[in-house]
Amino acid sequence: MKISVIGCGYLGAVHASAMAELGHDVVGIDIDAHKIEQLAAGKPPFYEPGLPEILTSARASGRLRFSTDIADAAGARVHFIGVGTPQKPGSHAADLTYVDTAVQSLLPHLAAGDLVVGKSTVPVGTAARLAGVIEASGSGASLAWNPEFLREGFAVKDTISPDRLVYGVPAGAAGEHATALLNEVYASAMAAETPLIVTDYATAELVKVAANAFLATKISFINAMSEIADVSGANVTELADAIGFDVRIGRKFLNAGVGFGGGCLPKDIRAFTARAEELGRGDSVAFLKEVDAINLRQRQRVVAMTLQALGKPVYKCKVAVLGLSFKPHSDDVRDSPALDVAVQLRGLGADVVATDPQGIENSRARHPQLNYSSSIEETLRDADAVVLVTEWAEFKEIDPVWAATLVRTPIIIDGRNTLDAAVWRAAGWTYQGIGRP
Ligand code: UDX
Repeated sequence: MKISVIGCGYLGAVHASAMAELGHDVVGIDIDAHKIEQLAAGKPPFYEPGLPEILTSARASGRLRFSTDIADAAGARVHFIGVGTPQKPGSHAADLTYVDTAVQSLLPHLAAGDLVVGKSTVPVGTAARLAGVIEASGSGASLAWNPEFLREGFAVKDTISPDRLVYGVPAGAAGEHATALLNEVYASAMAAETPLIVTDYATAELVKVAANAFLATKISFINAMSEIADVSGANVTELADAIGFDVRIGRKFLNAGVGFGGGCLPKDIRAFTARAEELGRGDSVAFLKEVDAINLRQRQRVVAMTLQALGKPVYKCKVAVLGLSFKPHSDDVRDSPALDVAVQLRGLGADVVATDPQGIENSRARHPQLNYSSSIEETLRDADAVVLVTEWAEFKEIDPVWAATLVRTPIIIDGRNTLDAAVWRAAGWTYQGIGRP
């Protein structure tokens, strides 16, 4: 099938490549000429495991091209909208400028029977409004909403073998047409057991924000437990293991630590709260403000733990920060708790040296005031304290005996509860985790 993907940022670039990998004839479109140039040359503009491989094979097959000209979308039967919906500056609401502009610029190139498919995360009610815009254009095209659940670091796998598919479609024949087209798009991605939920626009939009709100709540819940564990001498990891055995709860997303970040969870819970307030139901999701507050408090907690462990004026200390990206297998530092901790410590006067396998370049662009090193050894050398804030395998594998020979004072704050406390203590370290005695 001929497919266009409007927006070649994180979501769109992965989606365009994955659609070509599934056998479709795809054009990826973006207004950013530099990004298009990079993608056309087979170079993803960000780090994502597996993406370079499918990008290369899709280009070699001739099934994937990139363009800055929206007119190149003409002729495609399905047009995916994968542009960003960032947080509006000075507000918690989502900025829909890119989605609105993408749909407007697509209108002159739509033909009867075409399907525009929204993938971006949007406030509930957006799809119905955009369906009206498309209908009023008189093109005969229609709209579906098909939220994306991909996780950074696993984006290719999550797109090629999704754990569920959700279609938000209009009622009646238009809905049947949209469902048939989407089934054709995903035919080779759908296994016999892949759940498919065909629903209305509002439900499809809400599925995405509700899923992210639930995940964020789960993380903040366990982080709240870790605060209680800290003052009561309990162990939050054992607590998570024990409650996680209850299949109704589940162990995933119960890892206490410096909290969640990235381009989705923080902004999505804020936008959800803002939208609920607009709809006059702010009280219903007011708890998400607490989820956000608990999450932000974790960063301060790690900073406070570091200051306390140092036991001397921080401006005289070198602090080694292990981790910058918001999670491993990613170079994304948007709303990263790790980068935030490094910046806060620097702001307090510490001599911060930070390292990360993928996140240095993006961090340096935002925070040139920090010192960065690509070497773990250099980062640790003469440190008065070490703070681990992203659980990359490279950091978990550090030999504490070797590391102790490099630092000035063997103090480690494990902001991801990822190290073996007993092993580090046996090597002479003062070890402190989150909610661990
Ligand atoms: C998330 C959703 O998982 C995905 O379905 C959605 O489409 C986009 O948002 P992503 O932002 O890639 O994906 O990251 P995710 O793996 O969900 O992790 C989010 C954050 O939570 C990370 O900062 C991670 O370190 C943190 N986290 C996760 C915890 O602090 N504890 C946990 O137990 C799990």
